[in-house]
Amino acid sequence: MGSNWTAPKIAQHKVRDGQSPLVMLTAYDAPGAHMVSEAGADIILVGDSLAMVVLGYEDTLQVTIDDMVHHTAAVARAEPEAFIVADLPWMSYHISSEETVKNAAKLIRAGAKAVKLEGGQDRISMVEAIVNAEIPVMGHLGLTPQSVLSLGGYKVQGQTTSAAVQLSYEAKALAHAGCFAIVIECVPSIVGKLVTDSLSIPTVGIGAGPDCDGQVLVFHDLLGMHHELQPKFVRSYANIKENSIDALSAFASDVRSGNFPSEDESYQISDEEAEALGLYGSPLPKSEDPLASW
Ligand code: KIV
Repeated sequence: MGSNWTAPKIAQHKVRDGQSPLVMLTAYDAPGAHMVSEAGADIILVGDSLAMVVLGYEDTLQVTIDDMVHHTAAVARAEPEAFIVADLPWMSYHISSEETVKNAAKLIRAGAKAVKLEGGQDRISMVEAIVNAEIPVMGHLGLTPQSVLSLGGYKVQGQTTSAAVQLSYEAKALAHAGCFAIVIECVPSIVGKLVTDSLSIPTVGIGAGPDCDGQVLVFHDLLGMHHELQPKFVRSYANIKENSIDALSAFASDVRSGNFPSEDESYQISDEEAEALGLYGSPLPKSEDPLASW
């Protein structure tokens, strides 16, 4: 199938030009990619949130480029209509331009159409190196989860005038370096608007208010698949964790009560064959029993 979206097309998508906001959702496997795409998302992000929502780690610092390649390939095998962006994980774009481009290429070969990386001014040379290798790059500013240790936790960013101006400056630097879109995470709405208004490429917000050119949420958060404390910007549209536990408990209780499987859920053979197997009536005499020596 393939997506109608391309990076250059996304780069021109601004709400102020009358376009509807971009819808981006994360997915990490083929069934998730099918659901997100069938729901009409424009962009699938194979996010490094994989670390927490799928792999059980405490933060995104544990996820590797090999993990990201594995999950990007699973998403790509679903052949979603949505445009696939894959996250470059921590330490895959921090050491050298050469290593950065090689890692970005691994994600493209796994099926991504673009990569995303976190950070502003400090990452410009890496953005330029990837763009020079003809790979589209999405930026990510504001709360950048890969910086959790240096930030001292997950905190709202851009809360002072100087921090907001710095963020806006970094967004312009990323756009100038060739990013086709920028995720803005966890900043006051007015900062989301300031950055969005100052750029010709789209912003995709997560906790950045209603004025961004698109919105993104994490699949598992939106579907209510886990019950840890959620940030204020998460809206859960379902309660899949509780519904799933109810369904799984019903199965366990049906097995224990003998209510599963039913006749209809079991395979049958003809009465003659069953008789020959000695399952009906008296068992076969030992001399005729093909299984006697087992
Ligand atoms: O990894 C991720 O899921 C992300 C989104 C929160 C934007 O980067």
